[in-house]
Amino acid sequence: MKILLTGANGLVGQKIKKELAENDQVELMATSLHPEVNPLQGRYLFQTLDITMSWQTEELIRRFQPHTLINCAAQANVNRCEQEKTECLKINTEAVTELTRIANVNNIHLIQLSTDFVFAGVKTNYQEEDEAAPVNYYGLAKKEAEDHIIAHARKGSIIRTLLVYGYVPEMNRNNLVTWVYQSLKNGKPIRVVNDQYRMPTLGEDLAWAIGQIALMEKTGIYHISGRELMSIEEIACRTANYFSLDAGLITPVTSAELQEPARRPPQSGFDLLKAEKELDYIPHSFEEGLKLIEKQTDKMR
Ligand SMILES: NC(=O)c1ccc[n+]([C@@H]2O[C@H](COP(=O)([O-])OP(=O)(O)OC[C@H]3O[C@@H](n4cnc5c(N)ncnc54)[C@H](OP(=O)(O)O)[C@@H]3O)[C@@H](O)[C@H]2O)c1
Repeated sequence: MKILLTGANGLVGQKIKKELAENDQVELMATSLHPEVNPLQGRYLFQTLDITMSWQTEELIRRFQPHTLINCAAQANVNRCEQEKTECLKINTEAVTELTRIANVNNIHLIQLSTDFVFAGVKTNYQEEDEAAPVNYYGLAKKEAEDHIIAHARKGSIIRTLLVYGYVPEMNRNNLVTWVYQSLKNGKPIRVVNDQYRMPTLGEDLAWAIGQIALMEKTGIYHISGRELMSIEEIACRTANYFSLDAGLITPVTSAELQEPARRPPQSGFDLLKAEKELDYIPHSFEEGLKLIEKQTDKMR
């Protein structure tokens, strides 16, 4: 199966690149806005691609003829989306509208990454069909992309995930676990919210599930996350404890005290029943995830 991956330099993109490059059933063309970071051993191609330039995508598809397009390209910085709405809309919504059109014309299965932030965050067991009600601009832009795919894609999947963590040697932005680790290791005090609850998702678990969805040609919406609901403070403290770092450097604060540009849903978590039943999805525990990160690099110790 030929798979075209966009946003392959991001955290999720890098994990999917690794998952698919190691799969003999897959012929992978990985792409990203900038030249490749962390090239892997393995059988895949890489080239730059800007998803906001439709002609670039069309040209590449004409040459590569993929069965499946996995779109990990995004502006995923939630605060930046609040402050740079035009840019957010261009990458997170308008480009996805174009990818849908191009996928339809070429009979391609389009797999779009989305987020728990499409929900208001009033419960911790969101199901795929629950009503979206975003509380910030990032969530709104991602919801509009979802709505377009649901209405127009001939073969479309939406994979919602939440608080992805994991290690890759080069990251264009930190995730919660690597930020906590690096800050505490350098003796830097951090302020961490204690009134937001999430189910952190190991990047490898997400990449595996997306690989299954691609290979099984599953369409529709899927929720993919870890199983454990924790406050952001608890995630930070468990990371500190696992790596024997000074949890005393962590100051708990409320969302109101933190005053971030974008509002956050107070709590979010997924009902994973559909993924368990249809994909045999079994996520790692948080401690297993930390153990994997520890093994992946000596930089984390
Ligand atoms: N990380 C999370 O916790 C999380 C949670 C929920 C949902 N998601 C969703 O998962 C997806 C991937 O997120 P991520 O965390 O991997 O984000 P990320 O680390 O910020 O990576 C996004 C990648 O998109 C690429 N990109 C940006 N603009 C582009 C453009 N115009 N054309 C092509 N590529 C472009 C960038 O590539 P270059 O580096 O080459 O510039 C970047 O590496 C997003 O849809 C996000 O909404 C993530």
